[in-house]
Amino acid sequence: MTHPLEELRAAALAEVAAAPDEEALDAARVRYLGRNGSISAWGERMKTLAKEERPIVGKLLNQARTAVATALEEAGEKLRATLETRALAEIDISLPGTPNDIGALHPLTQVLDRAIGIFRRMGFALAVGPDIEDEWHCFDALNTAPDHPARNEQDTFFLPDGRLLRTHTSTVQIRAMESAPPPLRVIAPGAAFRRDETDATHSAQFHQIEGLYVDQAVSVADLKGTIEYFLRELFGADTAVRFRPHYFPFTEPSFEIDVKSKALKGGEKWIEVCGCGMVHPAVFEEVNRARKDAAYDPEKWTGFAFGLGMDRLAMILFDIPDIRFFAQNDLRFLRQFA
Ligand code: PHE
Repeated sequence: MTHPLEELRAAALAEVAAAPDEEALDAARVRYLGRNGSISAWGERMKTLAKEERPIVGKLLNQARTAVATALEEAGEKLRATLETRALAEIDISLPGTPNDIGALHPLTQVLDRAIGIFRRMGFALAVGPDIEDEWHCFDALNTAPDHPARNEQDTFFLPDGRLLRTHTSTVQIRAMESAPPPLRVIAPGAAFRRDETDATHSAQFHQIEGLYVDQAVSVADLKGTIEYFLRELFGADTAVRFRPHYFPFTEPSFEIDVKSKALKGGEKWIEVCGCGMVHPAVFEEVNRARKDAAYDPEKWTGFAFGLGMDRLAMILFDIPDIRFFAQNDLRFLRQFA
């Protein structure tokens, strides 16, 4: 005679084997092994059995539990494997995929990355400042007279609250000196804004790389060496570099720098790429006033500053004829630099 537990076990195994899905498996688990399951019920019933019967029933109970639990687990695994195989079978791997457009760095970003790399080798750290500035950082602190034409609404974008879009990145010279005492060696790349008439070489928004080097006994020779090294690293060793005297309120003496190189598409023309000079003592003094100390004592410290036209550098390097291309987002243009 078979024990009822053996019958239960056989019924449970048959049900598990026939289960078409995971729901049916769960139902079987609850029915036989759940807290109120019919196999589990035998655990309670044990207490009512005669002493000599208990080991026999106990053994049957354990065997039934283990057998059914194992069967449930194996059946579950098999079901999930079947489902997965079926799902994968529905994917037609011979169909063409969805093309993924891979982006590329903008030519200005490419030039910027190279420029940062060159200056970093010379020990320049990266500094940043805001595009929206106050008049003091853009003009006053840079020794620019109250009636200087650059402050004119014709030339500068003013906000209703009196702030402005910086007309050059020289603002970051001031911010760098406000936040750290000398010696200082930073470059500050970024956007600048002027109310220029837009044409092939002028845009209301353009980009500069500002540089500032303050230390003891810095001279024009250091300025010249630094800029020449940078331009030859960027454009090639046979690049000719020319310094022309110029005027900026915040440097004295001041220069504009032109380059010329056979290797470049521009050919034999001089092209202006940079304004620069030795930091004017009046700038140091104004910074000291703002800092409320004498950290930038013009008797002790000297420095040079420069502002490279980043769009100009990229136009020369990549032979780009029109500055407006940089901002038009035309993929036919951008893909050429990918
Ligand atoms: N800020 C000047 C310009 O925009 C360039 C410059 C920077 C000149 C630093 C001298 C020193 O034209």
